[in-house]
Amino acid sequence: MTGLVGVFDSGIGGLSILQALRAELPQSRFIYIADSGHAPYGERSDAHVMARSRTIMCEMLSRQVQALVIACNTATAAAIEQLRADYPDLPIIGVEPALKPALAFSQTRRIGVMATRSTLASAKFKALLASLTSQAEFVLQPCDGLADAIERSASSNDTSDINALCAKYTQAMGSFGTQSGQIDTLVLGCTHYPFATEPLRELLGPQVQLVSNGPAVARQTRLKLTENSCAATAHDKVLGAGSPAVEALLNLFSTGEPQLLQNAAQRWLLRLPAEPRYRATQLATTR
Ligand code: DGL
Repeated sequence: MTGLVGVFDSGIGGLSILQALRAELPQSRFIYIADSGHAPYGERSDAHVMARSRTIMCEMLSRQVQALVIACNTATAAAIEQLRADYPDLPIIGVEPALKPALAFSQTRRIGVMATRSTLASAKFKALLASLTSQAEFVLQPCDGLADAIERSASSNDTSDINALCAKYTQAMGSFGTQSGQIDTLVLGCTHYPFATEPLRELLGPQVQLVSNGPAVARQTRLKLTENSCAATAHDKVLGAGSPAVEALLNLFSTGEPQLLQNAAQRWLLRLPAEPRYRATQLATTR
């Protein structure tokens, strides 16, 4: 029993979920795969995302993960049901736009949802939306190019595209604020978008709630691990941090440019040791 958790996304966005997972399961081991060589998912066909998800799943299984977190709204919508059917014994945890948590915040009952085009068009999202439309009005905004701009910012530190796209998309959604008829809550329905929190905050002001679901996904993962009796608690006793026999608690792989993932992880994962064993490595997928 190793308590090893696999986490993947089309790129660096899933690091926002990994942050929460590491906080919830501080002694667990993680493998993170950024499929940057085949991104963005959000503007590709379901067939592409399904095929990539299957390939990544095989990579994860070859490394003997005991749970898989699909840290990507787009891949969850396109592939989670099939993957769960194909691998019924593996706990597979997905991410969906945090519409339900947003209901708890919203006073005006007007909620904005930023997500990829594929997520918003998916049957899974449509079913979620239909179950909640009696409780609030949801303003949906596909954000073409935003995940990609966030990816690029990890190598260039240039955030001008992110700022421009955030301005364009929030403007398209209408008026934000806490007055009646205004959007008072914004769902960040793509795991890349929490990394645009700063420009969004600047555009929308402090009163608008930004909602994402990293902590909820992390709690769900802990629950699933416990149910499957490979909980971190059992494994923590074996893997004390600092023990010389311990492998890296986090292995980072990218099917694209590993340095980009490395930069993003260094910037966004709190307390990531600056040791060589935490360097991202290139992953060549054969399928
Ligand atoms: N981070 C992903 C999501 O949550 C997708 C970004 C992309 O590749 O388009 O939807």
